[in-house]
Amino acid sequence: MKLFTAKNELGAYISEIRNQGRSIGFVPTMGALHQGHVSLIKKARQENDIVVCSIFVNPLQFNNTEDLKKYPRTLTEDLTILEPAGCDAVFYPKVGEMYPDEVTEKYTFNHLDKVMEGKFRPGHFDGVAVVVNRLFNMVLPHRAYFGLKDYQQIAIVKSMMLQTGSTVELVPCPIIREVDGLAMSSRNVRLSPEARNLAPFIYQTLQWGKQQLGTASPAEVTKKVIDRFKLHPEFEPEYFEIVDSETLLPVETFDSSNPPMACIAVWLDQVRLIDNLVYEA
Ligand code: PAJ
Repeated sequence: MKLFTAKNELGAYISEIRNQGRSIGFVPTMGALHQGHVSLIKKARQENDIVVCSIFVNPLQFNNTEDLKKYPRTLTEDLTILEPAGCDAVFYPKVGEMYPDEVTEKYTFNHLDKVMEGKFRPGHFDGVAVVVNRLFNMVLPHRAYFGLKDYQQIAIVKSMMLQTGSTVELVPCPIIREVDGLAMSSRNVRLSPEARNLAPFIYQTLQWGKQQLGTASPAEVTKKVIDRFKLHPEFEPEYFEIVDSETLLPVETFDSSNPPMACIAVWLDQVRLIDNLVYEA
């Protein structure tokens, strides 16, 4: 497995692969890899000749400096996970390599970056769009793999790709969960053992909310789900919304032919966790 820290060296490798007519699958990450990331690498492995993974904790997408500081950095372990998963090359740039000059790219997402995550993390999605576009321009992938765990991020990346005229094929991949249902996340390691025991309640509550949709409207279910977190005051729900899967705006009625997404962000033990579930009948 190759490791590149300089974009010109990565560029030379990518040109060689492209000149050979081989396809490139790309998995952008911020490291602290777990089985969720591995699932993306494996899917990319199945569908491409070459798999490239980037590990870059992107300062531009952190609106909270504490979160950026505390973000786990585990390069050695990450490399030992990537190699057997079938990764061919890792791009691990320094901040100055990605952002040598002032960032001037501008995208417009209309309401897509104002709702849910966007409401609570101002500027976050601008940072995501900038870094993903720059990485795409360096890796020149045929396909790029993103987890549905970050559902809104996929909508943002799709919008950025429309605005840049990108021809990369975006491949959304299912959420990988721990056996107790907690969605895998690099932030889970920051939970105390007690909080980690409580954390599966998030997914259980998403599932419980789905069952309520038979007898209650989306607005009523939303209220019930938020209320249910009072059973465990350790949780501080930031938002819970039942939204249209495309527009990400709250739905007023349940339409089984166009199943909505239930999206949640909760604080637990000073860690912010997100999850989502399709509310299909
Ligand atoms: P990161 O949080 O490291 O996630 C990298 C990719 O792994 C994302 O596409 C994310 O949705 C996916 N992922 C994370 N947990 C997952 C899980 N439990 N199941 C399936 N997929 C999962 O998302 C980012 O990094 C950054 O915003 C990035 C796109 C790299 C831009 O900086």
